[in-house]
Amino acid sequence: MAHEFTINMLRWYATNRRSLPWRETKDPYAIWLSEIILQQTRILQGQAYWERFMHRWPTVKELAEATEDEVLREWQGLGYYSRARNLHTAAQQIVANGGFPTTFEGLRKLKGVGDYTAAAIASIAFDQPAAVVDGNVYRVLARYFGIDTPINTTEGKKTFTALAQELLPHDQASAFNQAMMDFGAIQCTPQSPNCSYCPLAETCEALHTQRINQLPVKLQKLKIRERHFCYYYIRLQENGSTIIAIRRRPSGDIWQGLWEPLMLEDCSEFPEIRGTFTLLRQKVKHVLTHQIIYADFYLIDTTEKPSLPDSFIWIPESELSHYALPRLIERLIDGI
Ligand code: ADE
Repeated sequence: MAHEFTINMLRWYATNRRSLPWRETKDPYAIWLSEIILQQTRILQGQAYWERFMHRWPTVKELAEATEDEVLREWQGLGYYSRARNLHTAAQQIVANGGFPTTFEGLRKLKGVGDYTAAAIASIAFDQPAAVVDGNVYRVLARYFGIDTPINTTEGKKTFTALAQELLPHDQASAFNQAMMDFGAIQCTPQSPNCSYCPLAETCEALHTQRINQLPVKLQKLKIRERHFCYYYIRLQENGSTIIAIRRRPSGDIWQGLWEPLMLEDCSEFPEIRGTFTLLRQKVKHVLTHQIIYADFYLIDTTEKPSLPDSFIWIPESELSHYALPRLIERLIDGI
């Protein structure tokens, strides 16, 4: 007999489920793509990206055959570009293996597919009994069962995964997993859960012990690094055309593979370039997961080609939109 939590959750989902295009299909590629995109953004924006990806690359084979640059360009604006690179690599793995893996363990071997994504695809596309555990699931379970084990610890992960797995009805894994995520997103929200109109309120431990705002517990542990970037957008007039210098960001740091103008970190020196310097933007704050970037942005207009390291290329200014840029650079050049 299913737990009353499970029964109520499925009942709630039957009338409140969100209508989403990837819920109309069992295609593992479409479902995988939606899950990777939704790790990066909210449903509304995610849907637009999903539709563009599906339109441009309707099958995993077509995505595998795209270039990495094309995939990064399509991903632009979502941030965390390693996800896009992993998506592309995994598409090639899938094609090389002759098709999508159909089990949790098989899916887990794909680049960029962790426990959450493997469980989501296994349950939603292949009806396998693998429970998903994402931020929504942690919150719903921590509150309903009144569990204060910190969610970002090994013990927390184990406890909540085991509980979700225990509650999962094996014949309705897809519906239950998606119910938990929708319930967390719509009903049991982080800041203002709708407890006065909730089918689980009567048996919710956190509500009865007035701990809705204390649960789930998360340990604060990561230190956020602050960095200062000075950008120099070098614009050269040459033979009647306007060209600019950009380079690809190297590996081993944020935004690997994306393009940017000359950048000197910490802004401790000016580049030795002859031209007119204009400070266009100052201390623009850009927040990433583990870093905060403060950026100054200079325009240098010149008619004398400066010598730059070999990694730089000169491109017509009008073609900048063909290159994948970090969101910060897009923000900075907006309105030049
Ligand atoms: N967020 C990420 N994946 C989701 C899904 N399958 N359903 C609802 N919300 C989600």
